[in-house]
Amino acid sequence: MSSREKTQNNVINFTIDGQPVQAKPGWTILETARHHRIHIPTLCYHPAVMPWGSCRLCVVETGYGKRGQVIPSCLNPPVAELEVFTQSERVVNVRRWVLEMLLAECPASREIKKLAAEYGVTSTRFAVTHPDEECLRCGLCVAVCNEVVGVQALTFGSRGVKKVLETPYRVPNNACIGCGCCVSVCPTGALQKRLDTVRGDLSRRTGHGYAH
Ligand code: FES
Repeated sequence: MSSREKTQNNVINFTIDGQPVQAKPGWTILETARHHRIHIPTLCYHPAVMPWGSCRLCVVETGYGKRGQVIPSCLNPPVAELEVFTQSERVVNVRRWVLEMLLAECPASREIKKLAAEYGVTSTRFAVTHPDEECLRCGLCVAVCNEVVGVQALTFGSRGVKKVLETPYRVPNNACIGCGCCVSVCPTGALQKRLDTVRGDLSRRTGHGYAH
């Protein structure tokens, strides 16, 4: 097949789990899979914001000769004739490992426990330092507040394992309009409890912002 035929009609032809699929230019492997109703689990992905690949749950295996590798499907676009596998042994092993880490990172999240159980993961070998933690620190809430709502009421403080979700300068932020977008996109349910911390004292709200 010529390279012209491979991208016939301005689409990219490749396969997912042996099924021929077509991607439009600019689509990622995940977007193509969703378009063709092929399930790939995700946590930090949302179509309304730019993907940044923090959870690594969406990994797939690409069988591209000897260069096959496990990659996050939400970040990577397909190329013509790529073979993608969403449930290979390598993929399932990586997801199980990721879920073990997530169980240690946010052990109080029912959503993470449920997802982990689907992969047969019910305990973790990693150290649990905050047993009540539900936040995955995936950044979806920060991204939706910034990119969609445009008010930047949320941010991350510190770096690495000390990274925490907080309001800028750790004070109640009246930039928050209480739209609930952050809560609705949160994949672990963590933000429901934190919403009042973000919005501050609700008794001072007038309906048009804060009373002064
Ligand atoms: S959904 Fe792709 S890395 Fe989280």
